[in-house]
Amino acid sequence: MFQIAPSILAADFLHLEKDIQLVNRCGDVIHLDVMDGTLVPNISFGFSVIDHIAKIATAPMDVHLMVVHPERWFEKVAKDGVQMCSFHWEAAGRNTSRFIQKIQELGMKAGVAINPDVPVQKLFPYIGKADYFLVMSVFAGFGGQKFIYESIDRVAALRAEIERRGASAIIEIDGGINVGNAQTVREAGVNLAVAGSSVFGAEDPAAAISALRGA
Ligand code: DX5
Ligand code: ZN
Repeated sequence: MFQIAPSILAADFLHLEKDIQLVNRCGDVIHLDVMDGTLVPNISFGFSVIDHIAKIATAPMDVHLMVVHPERWFEKVAKDGVQMCSFHWEAAGRNTSRFIQKIQELGMKAGVAINPDVPVQKLFPYIGKADYFLVMSVFAGFGGQKFIYESIDRVAALRAEIERRGASAIIEIDGGINVGNAQTVREAGVNLAVAGSSVFGAEDPAAAISALRGA
């Protein structure tokens, strides 16, 4: 299975409903980036916006918490009916297992995210615990960056280790995904690809989603 999660960070904030409905219709998952200006050098949108999106979302919502102390927000995220919630290993450290458990207890799928400069092996202790892993293929903080090619080897190494252990987990990739690299990341073991600018920057976002999925 290879699914596409359009990233709302690249949507038209003046016509957000139109873009959410597009993802409901044509995408698989709604990717929502929450940034705090501390863990990452940017601020995006927060829960007052997600509360509104939740009212019209029919596709599953995937909240990517790029914040310090992500655990402060797990309950809030769950109350919005979010199905997938990820936090950064860089923000959680030795609390990672506890945070995964907390997210799962709240009825959501738990994801652990890492930036490109964190060795992918740091995720290995959470295989069999986390429902998904979010491998950043750009440095978290901004849309529209160039895909870092080494990410493909990182995904392949993670997929190999998941299989070696006879476990299962979704691998999500985030950053710089376009039709030129979607097939390669899929072959490396990605199940869920986030795409911001290549979807909402396209003349026909629906066609862009199909092209990514079919790549
Ligand atoms: C970056 C965010 C991404 C971003 C991806 O920190 O996590 O989800 O929206 O945007 P593109 O697809 O434009 O790289
Ligand atoms: Zn993201």
